[in-house]
Amino acid sequence: MISLTRHLLERPRFQAGQAGELSVLMTHIARCGKLIARDLNRAGLLGTLGAAGTTNVHGEQVQKLDERANQTFVDVLEESDTVRVVISEEMETPWAVTRAQASGTYAVFLDPLDGSSNVDVNAPLGSIFSVHRMDASGNFMKRGREQVIGGYLLYGPGTILVYACGDGVHQFTLDPAVGEFFLSGSGMRIPPRGKVCSVNTGNRSKWDERMKNAVESFQTDDPGTGPPYAARYSGCLAADVHRILWKGGLYLYPGEVKKPAGKLRLMYEAAPLSFVVEQAGGLGSAGDERILSIQPAAPHQCVPLIIGSCEDVERVERCLKP
Ligand code: AHG
Ligand code: MN
Ligand code: MN
Repeated sequence: MISLTRHLLERPRFQAGQAGELSVLMTHIARCGKLIARDLNRAGLLGTLGAAGTTNVHGEQVQKLDERANQTFVDVLEESDTVRVVISEEMETPWAVTRAQASGTYAVFLDPLDGSSNVDVNAPLGSIFSVHRMDASGNFMKRGREQVIGGYLLYGPGTILVYACGDGVHQFTLDPAVGEFFLSGSGMRIPPRGKVCSVNTGNRSKWDERMKNAVESFQTDDPGTGPPYAARYSGCLAADVHRILWKGGLYLYPGEVKKPAGKLRLMYEAAPLSFVVEQAGGLGSAGDERILSIQPAAPHQCVPLIIGSCEDVERVERCLKP
């Protein structure tokens, strides 16, 4: 059994720099995962389900557990000494760490609770994170390719932590009795082609013709492309992408004719998941360019997302070409 602590100690990347700053940061993110998992486990008993009565920067209804997960990250990262700024789906403006001695060099982008429409029905939820090193001028709006760490926590039947930092993808499972994450997968590789297509087809009427045809091609039995793909869609991006990481296939959240950038957010959903998926041999695409190549213009900007097995994502890209 290799604990997260031991795993980090054995990785030179996490020991470089003053006092292994990245190692401290990963440990703090893992602690957030433990605290949020505990809150989710007991939410039905503590009256913390349901809506908070506010809307976030994207105009979406905020759940009480969205607020709670966001506050957990803020409180824990405030103590980390390695983080200077936190950018979260649940905070309109970037939050500057207030500790007087804050000397942190990292910016952390967060979706504190992903899939929060699942909150009331005990379906899977996640937290998605992306770490960037700030440059001397304090800039943290960088391309996904420049991430130092990208990853997610997934709260399903078990709680898992998946991250990539340039040497493949590592997965840890929380042993709740011990309160520690243990390594449960390393060097994952996405099959070049899968059998699952994960997309909310209820939005079909909002897509342009090319996207309609692309998705339909995965639902059609065709001698050229093979049997139709199975439909799987949980409403939690982290859970749907995690399935694809292990089994292959693709997840799409397309842009819409009236909303070309779609719903998902570049910096704390599409980019960290693309970072993980690409280090496992898959692809993350916005249709006409790679997610990891996009220069961000705003912290909360949205982007269309097609992510998963290489051949499946490239097939959609071909269908979308004018
Ligand atoms: P969040 O709960 O952080 O707002 O994210 C929800 C996202 C994502 O997890 C999921 O894949 C997608 O939105 C679901 O949206 P639809 O209900 O529109 O399909
Ligand atoms: Mn989300
Ligand atoms: Mn969220």
